[in-house]
Amino acid sequence: MKKTASGISPLIALDRECSRALHAQIYDGYRSAIVAGNLRGGQRVPSTRVLASELGVSRFPVLTAYSQLLAEGYFESRVGSGTTISNCLPERFPCNTLPIREVSSPSQAPAVNGASSRQPFTSLGWLRNSGAFDISEIAYDQFPLQTWSKLIAYHSRSMQLQHLKYGEAMGLPALREEIATYLGAARSVRCEADQIMIVSGSQQAVDISSRALLNLGSTVWIEEPGYRLACDIFLRAGCRLAPVPVDNEGLDVSKGIERCPEARMAFVTPSHQFPLGVTMSIKRRLQLLDWAQAANAWIIEDDYDSEYRYDASPIASLQGLDRNGRVIYIGTFSKVLYPALRIGYIVIPRNLVDKFAAVRRVMDFGPPIFFQLVIAQFIHEGHFARHLRRMRTLYHKRRVTLVKCLREEFGPLVTLFGSDAGMHLAAAIAGEFCDVNIAEQAAGENLDLRPLSSYYLEKAMYNGFIFGFGNTSERQIPRAVKKLRDLLEAQ
Ligand SMILES: Cc1ncc(COP(=O)(O)O)c(C=O)c1O
Repeated sequence: MKKTASGISPLIALDRECSRALHAQIYDGYRSAIVAGNLRGGQRVPSTRVLASELGVSRFPVLTAYSQLLAEGYFESRVGSGTTISNCLPERFPCNTLPIREVSSPSQAPAVNGASSRQPFTSLGWLRNSGAFDISEIAYDQFPLQTWSKLIAYHSRSMQLQHLKYGEAMGLPALREEIATYLGAARSVRCEADQIMIVSGSQQAVDISSRALLNLGSTVWIEEPGYRLACDIFLRAGCRLAPVPVDNEGLDVSKGIERCPEARMAFVTPSHQFPLGVTMSIKRRLQLLDWAQAANAWIIEDDYDSEYRYDASPIASLQGLDRNGRVIYIGTFSKVLYPALRIGYIVIPRNLVDKFAAVRRVMDFGPPIFFQLVIAQFIHEGHFARHLRRMRTLYHKRRVTLVKCLREEFGPLVTLFGSDAGMHLAAAIAGEFCDVNIAEQAAGENLDLRPLSSYYLEKAMYNGFIFGFGNTSERQIPRAVKKLRDLLEAQ
């Protein structure tokens, strides 16, 4: 199969107010990602055209930065293989190998007053809906099925005897290498491939993490409102939940400390909070990391849709800020490839790898190797980077259309939450109605609306809906929003 440039763009935050020229900022961004070890020797860089369009600048500053990086030896260029990060860097900084302090695993957690023990999310009427705005769907019709099928055919024909054996409990090494390279560049995650475990989606990642790190009765901070499936996993594991409110800076760490300082874990979605969509501020991130270190607790960072940011202000992972091995980073291919794959990954602090692998061995010994081979090649040959870029443009347009339609139909009655990112949008709507009832009625109108109030464990602060736009086209959105307005008006 033909090789194409993979070229994942590093996180570069351009500051247009800054006196430093744009080309110098691009140069700085690359240089610091290289010296921090987030970009690796031999890794392809995106073309100047692609990077310029992602950063929202002309090609000129990108060309200037690239030629400086080439001249100084950070990049190398070879005929036929494009431009790559140099294998012989002009300087070596030890940043990516900063010692991660070893921390012991937790002991039995104390019981907590006021922690919620609400029953699991049962199959409520509106959960069985299907139709416009389903938050779990992606743009299936845009998936590069032809390329994917070719890779599947190739691997079917070239199966090797070694692929018939039990694989490694941590997953296929080639895929773990690709993921480590991708995460370093795109998310500033600090890890090596041997810290990555391939799992059956984030769902299993949370399950394995809770089995490895929590005990019966341990308390977990849960974002309020938050991801109910994670709550169910912790409840099934016999843990207690401590809902911690989310405001426009993300999880309110001080309230968590006030409420339950001795929790053993915090489950957070800092890049794009689920469901409100806010991004956790740097102040809160540092506060959360400090709390975890002081309380001997763990943080699960669920980075489920961080690939989709549209406002040119890239947000690095929380894991990348952690110097104490407190963060368990979880990613998934459900949003960026397709959910039926059931493949995700955990980045595990080095000293906990054996503990996680031991849990994995007694569960299912790892997902089938076949699709791991296919994904590894899909990433390696650049199809993944290209697909992400296309989807980013598509989802952004859908989001813009949705925001416009909600404002047109509901005017000042609607409050939109969150940053310009992701594949869903949460909106509160003022008025005398019950969002759960409306969601149930909407099912009959081919609308799959998730009632915002049902994502709270305690008293809901907002009445509204979560609109998934992954599989709802720009053409469908205006009609679907209008249907919702008609339903609300009929109340
Ligand atoms: C908060 C959150 N995390 C993770 C996921 C993905 O889960 P999985 O990888 O198990 O498909 C979703 C899917 O909708 C989600 O909403």
